[in-house]
Amino acid sequence: MEKIVSLCKRRGFVFQSSEIYGGAASVWDYGPLGVELRKNVADAWWSTMVHARDDIEGLDAGILMHPRVWEASGHVSGFTDPLLECKTCKKRWRADHIEDAGCPRKPSVAPGAHKDCELGEPRLFNLMFKTFMGPVEEDASVVYLRPETAQGSYVNFLNVQQTARQRVPFGIAQVGKAFRNEITPGNFIFRTREFEQAEMQFFVKPGSDDEWFDYWLDQRLKWHHGIGIRPEKLRQHAHGPNELAHYAKTAIDIEYEFPFGWQELEGVHNRTDFDLSRHQEYSGKRLLYIDPGSGERFVPYVVETAMGVGRAALVALVDAYREEEVEGQARVVLGLDPRLAPIKAAVFPLMKKFGQPEIARELLKGLRTARIPAGYDQAGSIGRRYRRQDEAGTPWCVTIDRQTSEDRTVTIRDRDTLAQERVGLDHVVGWIRERLG
Ligand code: GAP
Repeated sequence: MEKIVSLCKRRGFVFQSSEIYGGAASVWDYGPLGVELRKNVADAWWSTMVHARDDIEGLDAGILMHPRVWEASGHVSGFTDPLLECKTCKKRWRADHIEDAGCPRKPSVAPGAHKDCELGEPRLFNLMFKTFMGPVEEDASVVYLRPETAQGSYVNFLNVQQTARQRVPFGIAQVGKAFRNEITPGNFIFRTREFEQAEMQFFVKPGSDDEWFDYWLDQRLKWHHGIGIRPEKLRQHAHGPNELAHYAKTAIDIEYEFPFGWQELEGVHNRTDFDLSRHQEYSGKRLLYIDPGSGERFVPYVVETAMGVGRAALVALVDAYREEEVEGQARVVLGLDPRLAPIKAAVFPLMKKFGQPEIARELLKGLRTARIPAGYDQAGSIGRRYRRQDEAGTPWCVTIDRQTSEDRTVTIRDRDTLAQERVGLDHVVGWIRERLG
């Protein structure tokens, strides 16, 4: 992980938030390369889940919602973690993660193990961030920063179904920020207090939910494989009765083997009619689906797929990171799937003369006109320029050399195979576009 964190900072993927003030705990800022990577992960998700299907609609609901939403959803009463505090060193831990935790005092020992340390009784701590709506800070104006995007899809279930003229089964997809006041955030961007989710709620007829659950679990696994994540690094973990969230009948996590162990990457949940029924009850509005064909009326069940976008970006980084030796020289390379790579192509003039920079700039303009994110680098030896792009995960480097002025061809060097191909200058855009799929 240290190597990944260092690469992320060195190359501008991720910076610590408010670093010049000493940092804000477990909030991270995505730099020029990171913001592209995270956006590419979200776009790949959106393209598969929304654009490629007839039966899923997109939505972008507000982060702030009516506070009753969170009473209905069970988050006010039940979205808690057990908190343990040491009366001596004042450190706090999640009681259910205590085996992996350490006391901040030296020598480092288990929490409560120092002679004068004393752990209090675990108490339940609500993870929702509270704020106030409007100019008066009073109980009546308390609102919450949403801890999941899902509720926005539930309260808009009929709006979306009716305006998009969808029939059950169909889904609502959202990508957006969520906030949780985690007791023990950590492991870089793995667990943070502010994060982005890509969630899809699939509304189905009760009785067909188990079948749809299997379908969506399979689809989500295939998606992770499809963006290049090694299948042997992914596994499933079914929640036992003590792990299930308050809304779930069944839940299976798709886990990834991080450097710090197997951890959840995405959850697939059978939420039954829990959320829609509770919103009916708390709002007094009917959230019934009436099938236009059969006239059947029912509150749909929901199968949810829920992934953290930053977490998926971390998986992409960890999975792609390689250290290799090339022609006797060490290189660090991010073997990212080209669709996820922040920069798709880097253009280099071999020399800063003989018209090479001008041709390189012309090619760069062509790539940008074709909306292919591309970079330009004329500083240092060609080997150093390759290394810089290897670390950024750029799949192709295009070099303009003396031969280019003679026959208008360039070399394209592949990040992974290191193979170099001579391609006509006018064909570079098409060549790259073909490989981006
Ligand atoms: N709507 C259901 C839901 O939110 P979850 O399992 O609590 O389910 C879904 O969260 C996903 O969101 C997780 O699998 C994880 O990828 C991501 N996630 C959850 N908490 C996170 C945190 N504190 N930091 C980063 N990502 C988080």
